[in-house]
Amino acid sequence: MLLSPTPAAWFAAAGEHWQELLLDHANCEKKAASTALALMFSYAEDTSLALRLSRLAREELRHFEQVQKLLRELGVPHQRLSPSRYAEGLRRCVRSREPERRLDLLLVGALIEMRSCERFAGLVPRFDEPLRSLYDGLRASEARHGELYLQLAEAHASRSGCGDAAQRLAAIAVVESELATAPDPLFRFHSGTPVSPAH
Ligand SMILES: [Fe+2]
Ligand SMILES: [Fe+2]
Repeated sequence: MLLSPTPAAWFAAAGEHWQELLLDHANCEKKAASTALALMFSYAEDTSLALRLSRLAREELRHFEQVQKLLRELGVPHQRLSPSRYAEGLRRCVRSREPERRLDLLLVGALIEMRSCERFAGLVPRFDEPLRSLYDGLRASEARHGELYLQLAEAHASRSGCGDAAQRLAAIAVVESELATAPDPLFRFHSGTPVSPAH
């Protein structure tokens, strides 16, 4: 599904910037819960979607609590971080009219979960405890979340007749791949290939 793997340079930077990674990760978990809630409000008539996303949102908040607990235990001071370009870049792919909008939102959700899963998997062998167990545990959840978003997208596409979900996924995956690998001066959980900021 993902068109390109996370660059090795990103993983190398993750070891060095583990505190920023963890701080940004806490934000990503909160954002994942809030995205699921926003979908529940936008498509409130779909009670099956609401239940499944409610469970997902609770899981994301538990992830947030896990990360927050580790930040405290590891003595990482709180710091407000600006978000990476990733989510905003993907949001630009979302069409404004329904029923296409809903398809795009669900597919963007699927891609974000899949990239998170891929990065967690790559982080596991690069860290010692307690981060290793954290990333190992999260990778399975994010794989499930990716599957759920994909299923919801496919069901919506066939019900509404708004086009082929796989084809649209492939198109958005091109943008996702660019965002996750192109040179990026800001190091974040979903940033691209690290480059030093311009002087
Ligand atoms: Fe999560
Ligand atoms: Fe997730």
